Amino acid sequence: MKSKVTSVILACGMAVPPKIVTNHDLEKLVETSDKWIVERTGIKERHLLENGEVISSYAIKASKEAIERAGIKPEEIDLIICATLTPDYLMPSLAILIQRELGANKAGAFDLSATCSGFLYALSLADQYVKSNPERKVLVVGAEALSRKTNWQDRTTCVLFGDGAGAVVVTGDENGERGIVDFILGADGSNFHLLTLKGGGSAFPPFDERLPKEEYYIRMQGREVFKIATRAMEKVALDLLQRNNLKPEDIDIIIPHQANLRIIEYLRERLNLPMEKVFVNIDRYGNTSAASIPIAIYEAEREGKLQRDNLLLMVAFGGGFTFAGVLMRW
Ligand code: ACO
Repeated sequence: MKSKVTSVILACGMAVPPKIVTNHDLEKLVETSDKWIVERTGIKERHLLENGEVISSYAIKASKEAIERAGIKPEEIDLIICATLTPDYLMPSLAILIQRELGANKAGAFDLSATCSGFLYALSLADQYVKSNPERKVLVVGAEALSRKTNWQDRTTCVLFGDGAGAVVVTGDENGERGIVDFILGADGSNFHLLTLKGGGSAFPPFDERLPKEEYYIRMQGREVFKIATRAMEKVALDLLQRNNLKPEDIDIIIPHQANLRIIEYLRERLNLPMEKVFVNIDRYGNTSAASIPIAIYEAEREGKLQRDNLLLMVAFGGGFTFAGVLMRW
């Protein structure tokens, strides 16, 4: 009988800028308080790029670590997918900058834009790519510099975001016992206006004076987004479990997108899981969008909370709206 090929993560890497900005630092910038931010979001501090720094430096650092830990050479990589909303340039892509710096001369490379769900979208594509040829190796990166698209005078958004990058190496496993079990990708554009970044695209090119200045930054109606996020996270998680004949208690660990501790807590309650089974690091990084899940995977593994053979559920949502879930045996 032909064995079932699954895709496994060989190793992870992560990198964040050394500069840490605390809630107290933000109190000096906008009318807010550490108490409000911690109570409403769970965030205490975030890492942000310094002026003049670029996110590609951290994407490359995370990628090098993942490749080194996977014990492979950059020349063995077949494909680089970088999930990001905030590449250094619109052209070339961030994936190309990574390809160039690594010397991954056999690899195809492209960026993928699916906001905070981007990493799981990219991981699902990698899964399909290696299933048709288990020898293939895919570098999947999530890298984000939302600080560059943040209006630092808008207290409703500027307290939320952080910068950083995470990377994983995916390849095929012919034993089929570990690796990605199933995934769900979804989108619903009916409420896109609740979370936008309009300026700088082709509708309103840079410096287009028809568009108010604030529209060149992330704009969000947080309360409405919150409701959509909680519903989407719950639905993705339950749908994924149900169609694999699993119950929430079968999950060893959930790694949710780190957007708001209250959204994570809501998911935990709906799945009736103990807090030990839910990985949280939003207190130290804020919402790093497409980088949030790979950074969390890295830390969960390092802290011993994500162990070999664990059943792992990753769930994300983001602007668009997009949502995604990936179920895997680690
Ligand atoms: N400090 C102090 N007060 C604040 C701040 C702040 N930083 N921000 C807002 N407030 C005020 C508001 O003005 C409001 O005051 P009012 O009652 O006088 O009008 C009050 O606090 C409550 O505001 P809400 O927006 O109702 O607060 P909420 O509890 O909903 O928390 C938050 C806001 C944290 C943004 C929450 O709604 C949230 O997390 N939403 C989801 C965000 C998200 O996950 N985004 C998606 C991903 S981002 C991406 O895809 C790029």
